[in-house]
Amino acid sequence: MSAAFFPQDLPANIFFQTPETMNEMRRPGLLLQGWPWQPIFMRSLLTRTTAMKIKRYIISKETRARCRIFQLSEAAAHQFQSISLELFHYLLEVKAISFTIYFRVDDEMIEFIVPASFSHQLVHQIIAARNREYDNVDICVEAKDFKRFEALINEVREKKIEQLLRRDPLLDPQVIRSFVNLSRASQMMVRGGLSPQVAAQAREAASILVSSLMECEVAVGTLSRMVQADPTLYDHSASVAMMSGVIARTMLGRNREDSVIITQSGLYHDVGKTCVPHSLLNKPGRFTPEEFERMKLHTTLGYEEICRAIEQGSVIDRNVARVALEHHEKFNGRGYPFGRKGRAEEHEHGIHLFARIVSIADVYSALLMKRVYKEAYSASEALSIMHNAAADYDPIIFRNFEKHIQKTLIRYDVLEKKALAAGKIIMVDPGLGTRIRKNSA
Ligand SMILES: [Fe+2]
Ligand SMILES: [Fe+2]
Repeated sequence: MSAAFFPQDLPANIFFQTPETMNEMRRPGLLLQGWPWQPIFMRSLLTRTTAMKIKRYIISKETRARCRIFQLSEAAAHQFQSISLELFHYLLEVKAISFTIYFRVDDEMIEFIVPASFSHQLVHQIIAARNREYDNVDICVEAKDFKRFEALINEVREKKIEQLLRRDPLLDPQVIRSFVNLSRASQMMVRGGLSPQVAAQAREAASILVSSLMECEVAVGTLSRMVQADPTLYDHSASVAMMSGVIARTMLGRNREDSVIITQSGLYHDVGKTCVPHSLLNKPGRFTPEEFERMKLHTTLGYEEICRAIEQGSVIDRNVARVALEHHEKFNGRGYPFGRKGRAEEHEHGIHLFARIVSIADVYSALLMKRVYKEAYSASEALSIMHNAAADYDPIIFRNFEKHIQKTLIRYDVLEKKALAAGKIIMVDPGLGTRIRKNSA
């Protein structure tokens, strides 16, 4: 990576994963596990030495007796494709599979679920194993089977979307379709890293969103309802991308090209999290100060990864990398990694406009989502939480955002009452984003 990509004012305690800093990153306190852009075997090599010094994952006797387990050679590693935990969850919706699911621990590969033994119990076992406090593990399928796995996942997703649209007539099909496009691009990033093909898909999905000229109330309202009705369809990066695109294009009237870049920035903003251990990302409860420091690194790691992808030929605007770096900066200077303040258009230590937009979409989307450490908030609760921390955001963008969300709340409240009166839906709880059930009457 050329030094030209780095901002001049990086504090000394920010590490980048370059050959020079790799050893520093692998200190126990900053151990980088599950480096996603490398083939499986490389990841295993990168992390094995240090990880083994800390703890060793135990494969139970029962698993050893039940499953075929083999050493993963470098040659064999290329025959496997790792799959994300989010997509893996979809297997809880199917009754059978036609391929084998492997679970890698360090350089041992466990043939964990063969088609004949498929059960939801085994799927749950892998999910639990993947979330344990050990990160040099992977869920994989053979590369030759990946298309079949993907087809099955798409089938499940399509079915869920159809059910959702049938169940809630207030959801907009165009918004959902656009969201699914963005979500596919986001899943490709998690799965395969930032290849030129992934970048092209991300750009296309962003471009489709911006061309669709959807009304922001409809986009915001549909997203809010969707996350409540079927949280498994929700994808944080896709939702940040959609919200950012809508804020840019419809609320702020930015031009088409900027809006496409801002939408892409939403897709890529947390790409550095793929370098943060799963156990830390999924930790219930509060982070220790050290864990929080490690979590904060996702901004600089994401920045570095996007810059590397640009250098290697991916067509990504440089501002997308800047958003990954600055999306946790706060307008009042209390954010990270640099504590930048105000607007970059006004002074050199300010935050880029695109990052100021994405940070609002990021917080809003995170509040709507149920996480292991918090419940999901409704749209009105999310808005009021953000309102109480309004100094974190650019006041011009935030006022606009607030106004539109309030309009959305009113609009959907009216629509809901009408649908309710017509017997099309039954409201379980009052307020936008609450659970909707099909009216059996
Ligand atoms: Fe983030
Ligand atoms: Fe985020």
